Amino acid sequence: PAVTPFSRALTIPPVLSPVRSTTDTDVYRMAIKPAQADIFPGLKTDVLTYNGLFTGPTIKVRSGRRVVVEHTNATGEPVAVHLHGGHVPAASDGFPTDTFDPGAVRTYDYPNRQPGATLWYHDHAHHKEAEHVYRGLAGFYMIKDDYEDRLELPSGAHDVPLMFRDAQFDEQGQLVYAMGGFRARTTILVNGRVQPYFRVKRRKYRFRLLNTCLDRDLAFLLGADGTGEMVQIASDGGLLPAPVPATRVPVWPGERVEVVIDFTRYATGTQVMLVNDRGGDQGTREVLRFDVAGDADDDESVVPDVLRPLPDIGTPTVTRDLAFKMDLATGTFLLDGKTFDPARIDQHVKLGVTELWRVRNDDLRPAIPHNMHLHLAHFQIVDRDGVPVTGHEAGLKDTVTVPSGSTVTFKVRFDDYTGRYVYHCHLLEHSSMAMMAQMEITT
Ligand code: C2O
Ligand code: CU
Repeated sequence: PAVTPFSRALTIPPVLSPVRSTTDTDVYRMAIKPAQADIFPGLKTDVLTYNGLFTGPTIKVRSGRRVVVEHTNATGEPVAVHLHGGHVPAASDGFPTDTFDPGAVRTYDYPNRQPGATLWYHDHAHHKEAEHVYRGLAGFYMIKDDYEDRLELPSGAHDVPLMFRDAQFDEQGQLVYAMGGFRARTTILVNGRVQPYFRVKRRKYRFRLLNTCLDRDLAFLLGADGTGEMVQIASDGGLLPAPVPATRVPVWPGERVEVVIDFTRYATGTQVMLVNDRGGDQGTREVLRFDVAGDADDDESVVPDVLRPLPDIGTPTVTRDLAFKMDLATGTFLLDGKTFDPARIDQHVKLGVTELWRVRNDDLRPAIPHNMHLHLAHFQIVDRDGVPVTGHEAGLKDTVTVPSGSTVTFKVRFDDYTGRYVYHCHLLEHSSMAMMAQMEITT
């Protein structure tokens, strides 16, 4: 089936309301269940959802306020919920083998002792995470804080989350999932819709870009000629030290990049295309259209010259070398020569010690990209092959692309929580194939 391009409006995932609140905690309830999504007019697409919503409900919280989420598993398979980018105790991290069965209820506890940032929650059940995310188990989780509020960036209806993902559909409009079938996923959805339009006023907007594709990297351009300016203001872990204007914004799976777009530069009636520069045809290239619909009453939002300095985490005293490399003979996805084994500890980490991680991609022929993701902590990239990184990569990161043959070096410090956490390739089909390992953090 096909959708007439730009005939349907962008939908914004609704914000979930707590079922109860105390002075310091909000309690939410979610049902993980099958549902039917409205993707193609006149057809119903079977999906997996949080609370029946294809693009799960958004959880919005204040930094420092505790959130408890009670999940009921109403699917037919074990699930685990991971808060990607969350600084959370190990018991609430959604460890891949820490699943809960159909019919069971599992409570996750998130302290939110971290600065404002765009996080996302998604399934992490070992070997099934790729398919579960593909079928719909993903949603936004936004942390806001007072410091950020004082900056007066665009907010409210002008602060818009955009989840991008690819998919393959059959003639009945049903999702087709084949492990490794990424080349056939030639439809891109934005918040669950194919090629939607979004009506904007002539003013500034903040967009939270998230790529939840299993394998596909995206790179955004603004306008058909690709010259429109986007100002990057935040990365995985929150605000950048300073805004970084760009005309091309790459976003790898799992990464978040926040940009401010100023539509006062366009006349009323202008249609401004958001283009995926990595796309091959119309469907994967022109992904979203902004329709500039008139003057804003007033726009008092600003993008200040200084946002938030990076925290000083000290000088590394421990160095670790890691390598992604497939075994091509067996088609096995290996991290440091091994597949994931929950019974094996791969890295012994001391709480509060600053470390240097050098992550290498040894898949040269064929050249396969990998995408490093670390649970629990945000890291600061030192360089890629000796060259300092720029743009949103210079901010606080939890996911970073490691192109074939290259090495990404970052520093990181694990604070507050002990226990076992995973790190893995965030091309989710690779982690589903066990390109994953675990660290144990002890005092
Ligand atoms: Cu977004 Cu371990 O995952
Ligand atoms: Cu990989």
